[in-house]
Amino acid sequence: MKEKELRLLSKRILSRERYLHTLRVVALSKELALRYGADVQKAKMAAYFHDLGYFIGRSKRDRTLSHARLSENYARKLGITDSEVLEAIRLHTTGQRGMGTLAKIVYVADATEAGRNYPGVEQIRKESRRSLDRAILMIIKRTREHLHTKKKRLSRKTVQFEKKLMKRQKEAH
Ligand SMILES: [Fe+2]
Ligand SMILES: [Fe+2]
Repeated sequence: MKEKELRLLSKRILSRERYLHTLRVVALSKELALRYGADVQKAKMAAYFHDLGYFIGRSKRDRTLSHARLSENYARKLGITDSEVLEAIRLHTTGQRGMGTLAKIVYVADATEAGRNYPGVEQIRKESRRSLDRAILMIIKRTREHLHTKKKRLSRKTVQFEKKLMKRQKEAH
């Protein structure tokens, strides 16, 4: 799909607020893709799709699926077959052990786009220019604290992902 089509599709499906968020995620995904040598077109495509699942009708069967999974399914329906793009869409909220660079980029872009203004976001933005993994660890930490205030927990998938990243950080030093 061409970028113009993706933009129009997002604009049509998303709320105004979510559309503007998506455009900022697209812009930051592009920037990070350039920085980390990932495919810019794929990064942008994943970013355009990442939140569409919030707005696409859920069938009874879909009810238990996360918006990320619904977004991924929708991308498949529109003929997207690239596994990196689909992974980036699917994992943009939870992350997962072994996820690729493209998925890490969209994950970080979603959490640190220019409209995000939670405490500490500026440090995470800075770190994301040096290390995607360290930025992700900071995002997970912040998400844990945020969920704690809502009496919720990180998913097991995210905790496993965090462990793996921490181990790798230790090994690198
Ligand atoms: Fe999302
Ligand atoms: Fe998002």
